[in-house]
Amino acid sequence: MTKTIPERVLSGMRPTGALHLGHYHGVLKNWVRLQHEYQCFFFVADWHALTTHYNDPGIIEKSIWEMIIDWLAVGIDPEKATLFIQSQIPEHAELFLLLAMITPLGWLERVPSYKDQQEKLAGRDLTTYGFLGYPLLQAADILIYRAANVPVGEDQVAHIEFTREIARRFNYLTGSSILIEPAALLTPASKMPGIDGQKMSKSYGNTITLREAPESIAKKLRTMPTDPARVRRSDPGDPNKCPVWQFHEVYSSAEIKNWAANGCRSAGIGCLDCKKTVIDAVITETAPFREKAQEYLSDIAQLQRKIAAGCAIARCVAQETLAAVRQAMGLNLN
Ligand code: TRP
Ligand code: SF4
Repeated sequence: MTKTIPERVLSGMRPTGALHLGHYHGVLKNWVRLQHEYQCFFFVADWHALTTHYNDPGIIEKSIWEMIIDWLAVGIDPEKATLFIQSQIPEHAELFLLLAMITPLGWLERVPSYKDQQEKLAGRDLTTYGFLGYPLLQAADILIYRAANVPVGEDQVAHIEFTREIARRFNYLTGSSILIEPAALLTPASKMPGIDGQKMSKSYGNTITLREAPESIAKKLRTMPTDPARVRRSDPGDPNKCPVWQFHEVYSSAEIKNWAANGCRSAGIGCLDCKKTVIDAVITETAPFREKAQEYLSDIAQLQRKIAAGCAIARCVAQETLAAVRQAMGLNLN
């Protein structure tokens, strides 16, 4: 009986600070599931972080290990998935360089994130060569592993489309079929709200981090705003006007949701009663994260060995692709 090798899935994340529940519900839960179904390669996109945070490199170095610990804490298993750090695989940079030769400038200027991010991150000067080239670096990340699928959110779909175009152009110009056009595995948008009811995001300062202390979780949720109509305990409210309700949508059973909605509308419960179940649910969900992280924090050397092993595996695959690319581009010197 032949066993078919599962297709390769690749994804990366930028190390720019502690991960939070938005990352968990939006990305990591999905990665944990995928590692059982595919041959997964997950990497720390530290060069990508530099395209926007080049004037703040301190945060990147610290965030790399914090992020890897966050991944492992939520159940990414280094024995199942290959975990590595982009800057440890210099082959990404060489492929980026070689692909740059065939990349029309107009293609890069037209990637929607180029102008969008420049506008959004107006406080940063993103008129750099590195930032313009960032989608091509991402294309190199993907193509070098000949990944079939790339799990990404909606905001990254244009980058996968760009990657496909680069692969097609390379194969056409070299008369080869070395590079594989990847498909986007679209991750459904997460509904994880922040503690102010907006989408949870570091830039809004409304996050609960994955390893946040229980007291801090409780405090953040206890002081969350509620339906402003509930001034006194006896004033009825409307769950749809309350950010706490969005937490119930993520965390509560139908039964608890019923209890909370009815109690809110009839003023039968107070907001603190209502929040209590959410506080318990978030603390319970994150308890294993804190515990697992402790294991790795108490033996950083072990963690570093595991990641070094992942880097070695990734590098082997990357070298193989790069050898074929060099040859196809007339650089068959060794
Ligand atoms: N650009 C992605 C982001 O900002 C991160 C990333 C870099 C990535 N290289 C990748 C994602 C390759 C998927 C595949 O979120
Ligand atoms: Fe919000 Fe719950 Fe208070 Fe209603 S009872 S306003 S849903 S916290």
